Formats: sequence, structure tokens, C-alpha cells
Amino acid sequence: MKTFYLTTAIDYVNGSPHLGHAYEKVLADVIARFRRLMGDQVFFLTGVDEHGQKVQQSARARGIPPQQFCDEVTPEFRALCAKLNISNDDFIRTTEDRHKTVVCALLQKLFDQGEIYQAEYRGFYSTRQEQFLQDKDRHPDGSWPELYGEVTEITETNYFFKLRAYQEWLIAHLKEHDDFIFPRYRQKQVLEFLAEPLNDLCISRPRERLEWGIPLPFDDQYVTYVWFDALVNYYSAVADRPGVWPADLHVIGKDILVPPHAVYWPIMLKALGLAPPRTLLAHGWWSVNGAKMSKSTGNFVDPIGFADQYGVDALRYFLIREMSVGQDSDFSSAQFLVRYNSELANNLGNLVNRVLNMTNRFAGGVVPAADTAGEWELGLGALWAATRDEVIALHEAFQFHLALERVIAFVTATNAYIEKRAPWKLGKSAEPADQALLRTSLATMAEALRLGVGLLAAVMPGTTEKIYGVLGHQPGPVWREELVWGTRLTGHKVAESAILFPKPETKK
Ligand code: ME8
Ligand code: MG
Repeated sequence: MKTFYLTTAIDYVNGSPHLGHAYEKVLADVIARFRRLMGDQVFFLTGVDEHGQKVQQSARARGIPPQQFCDEVTPEFRALCAKLNISNDDFIRTTEDRHKTVVCALLQKLFDQGEIYQAEYRGFYSTRQEQFLQDKDRHPDGSWPELYGEVTEITETNYFFKLRAYQEWLIAHLKEHDDFIFPRYRQKQVLEFLAEPLNDLCISRPRERLEWGIPLPFDDQYVTYVWFDALVNYYSAVADRPGVWPADLHVIGKDILVPPHAVYWPIMLKALGLAPPRTLLAHGWWSVNGAKMSKSTGNFVDPIGFADQYGVDALRYFLIREMSVGQDSDFSSAQFLVRYNSELANNLGNLVNRVLNMTNRFAGGVVPAADTAGEWELGLGALWAATRDEVIALHEAFQFHLALERVIAFVTATNAYIEKRAPWKLGKSAEPADQALLRTSLATMAEALRLGVGLLAAVMPGTTEKIYGVLGHQPGPVWREELVWGTRLTGHKVAESAILFPKPETKK
């Protein structure tokens, strides 16, 4: 069986990790966990992009060597992964030998094949974006968009990779694989970019301008362009692992789709005789309180602090619930608290409390057997079957926000079921029929809770585990079997209480 191989972008370490980095890791982690639950063998890679001008500049500003700078900042990215409960199988740094060796080998191969040539280049260069610009990048009045920062005209000899030679191939590949890019409408954007003739890609930087990079194996007066170095991480991390390449999914932000991931990367692989990735998933961008996220404007959200305050699963839940994959979204603590209170604390948390509380009050803490087929109680079983199938299909289609909405709707329906059955009334009656219905209702609500939280396992793994724990449930190895209505909880001793989503204001 081919391993399902997925990656995140590797983050620039010129600053601390932020909410955008956190989101991308959580999103990729949800996909990795979902694939594992579905029985796939998964290899999940994340890491950091340590070379290039941005990092060199940040290190200079601190007055320390770039390697030392990276060694100080990279642990923050590792800590982010640990904090967010990211299940990555590997973490790559582009300053590691295992990476640099592969970058050099691939460059040498392309050079030997004649895919790389030297030429004089004269043009406008953006330091901030680390790219040469063209006239079409200017505003109509001739000025450069702010995004490029300071733009200077330079002339230098450089090495170029024959991108243009593969333009027709890439267009055909995109047309044949209409699931190459998700969301699909972004595929059109790539084809529009390819409607214009491609320029060959300048893949070198003279050392006097940029020290901090991998020297070209065939000319040590130059270092490799940071994108040529960075993209290769996806391959270098698994080059010696059989059955992993090609990547099944690269999870990236929309800003780095065109041209690096959708144009440079497939063409680099094609020229090297390596298979292209199956799918590129381009997610949208988070703003904070309606403004672009930036350190200078002070609306910088520290994801680790947030997870500390509300619990990592609450943060994971919010990020996945609030953003439709591909679209942009806004992060505000007001909206966070609305979802935290209404969907987690007062809905899911409340259901957990009710199940534990009533099982203890009316059944000595042991889940009774349902007297009748409990799952057909007031339509809950039919709703469950539909919810489960839909939620799995929505996961397959990367529609995680809708999947969570459906799970929460099922939790709401289970709470409504409890209101209707009112076990607290049945518990006061000595009638055998009422006692039977009481047992059925206790069994039904516990089972509905067990099933519902099973569907949260990819997004809130810690919460699922905790709720299984208080229900005295040990999940089996096959996830889909966990999602079948049954009698697994019958006779299980439940916990007395559980605090899952404490009220923020009552926290110490
Ligand atoms: O681009 N909302 O690194 P990076 C959502 N090193 N996602 C965001 C975001 C936001 N506000 N800000 C950034 C790089 N991201 C390169 C990648 S891959 C071979 C090299 C996402 O640290 C961004 O879209 O600037 C990207 O996918 C990731 O964070 C890393 O961004
Ligand atoms: Mg960026």
C-alpha cells in the first residue's frame, strides 16, 4: 500500500510562529489523523525554511550568525507543533545535512542534463519577496506595489533553470488532472498565469549579495535561490524512504501557490524525472479583528498563548470550524468565545455532564442495557447514520467546517432527545414501563455521545480520548467500527464528572 504522504509549507524562521502557521499545521494534522483513522498508512512532514535573505537580515539585526539565529528560533516552531498536538512524523530543517546533500545532488543532476545555464541578468529586484520583477508587476503609474518593499535595478550573471521548456507539459498536466489544485477555482488561476510565456527561473544568488544559502555544487561563488532550496524539502525528507514519494498532498497558503508550488515545483520534478505531487491544497488567510495580521500593527495573535488559555482542542476546533478551506477568515476573541460557549461548553460539555450525572443518579454509574432498540428512539439512530456518512464524505472533500457543524447538530439533537425523554421525571416513577424507558434513555444518550465524539477524533483528538475515558470506553483499532450504533457501553462504569470546557471567567 502506498503511504499517504502529506506536508505543510516550511515556515520562515525570521520571526516567531503565528496564527497562520498554527492554522496550517492544524489543518494538515486533521487530514493526517483522518487518513490514519480511515486505515491509511500516513507520513506527515512539517518543518522550517532557514535559508535566504529574510533570515539573514533578521540575524544581522540581532547581531548574531544566521545559524545561531535559526538554532534559537526553530525550537519555537517545534514547540508549536507539540503544543498543538500535531502528529507529524518528521520535522525538517533546511540547514540539515540530509537536506543540503539532496539539494546539491538535484542541482548537479539538472546541471549535467543541461537544464541549467548561465546568463547575464539585468532587472528589478525585490529584496522583501526575494524575486526579480517584471514591468507587468508595476502599477500603471510606474511605481512598485508596496508588497515588494524596496525595489532596486541590478545587473549580474546568474544561473537559470529552463522553466519555459516545460510550460506546455505543465498546461497539459493541469488539464488532465483537474484535481491537481484544491479549491478547483484556483486551478484556473494557474492556467491564467501559464497563458503568458514563462521566463526561465533564476536559481542562483551571488554570494556577495547573499551569504546564507546552499552553495551551488558547480559554482561556489553562488548560493541557491531560497525557493529552489525550500521546495526540495518535500523530497529530501523522504528520498530514502521507499513507498512514500510522490506526495499526495501539499498543504500551503494561497500566497505561495502561484508560481512556486503550482509552477516551479512540478516543473523541477518533471525535469528530474520524478512524479509530481497529486494535489496542492491552498488555504486562505487569517486576519485578526478584521485587519491583516502583522507584528507592526500589534494584532499579532500568539497561538501558544491561546491554547494555554482555552485548551488546545478549543483552539483547533475554532480554527477548523471558522474557516472554509480555501477562503479567508477572521479571528477575534469575541467570535472565539461565541463558539466556545455555544458549541463546546454549553452543548458538547453539557451533554457529557448530563450523561455522567444521570447515569450516576439513576443507574449507580453503570450504563444500563436499552430495553428496546434504543437507537430508533425518536429518530436519533437515523440522524446518526446520516450524520456519520455525511461527515466522512465532508472530510474526504476537505469541508471540515461543515463536518463540524453536522457533528454539533447531532450533539444538539441528542440534548433535545434528553429534554424530551426527561429521565429525571422517569426516575421518579416506579412504573415498570417508565423504568424500562429510563434505562433505554440512559443507554441511548451515552451511546449517542460515544458515537458523536468519535467523529471529532481528527479535529479534537484529546477531547475524544477524554470523553471515551469518562465513559469507560476503550476504542478498538478500526475507527469505522467505532461509528456503528451498538451496545459497547452496556455495563460500563462511567466517571462521576468531567470538566472539558471550563467557563473562561471561572478559570484561575
Ligand atoms: O512562505 N493566514 O513561509 P511563511 C494563513 N518559507 N496562513 C498564513 C498566514 C495567515 N495570515 N500567514 C502565513 C513561506 N501563512 C515559505 C514556504 S514551502 C516550500 C516554503 C502561511 O513562514 C503561508 O501561506 O511566510 C504559508 O503556507 C505558511 O504560512 C508559511 O509561511
Ligand atoms: Mg510569508
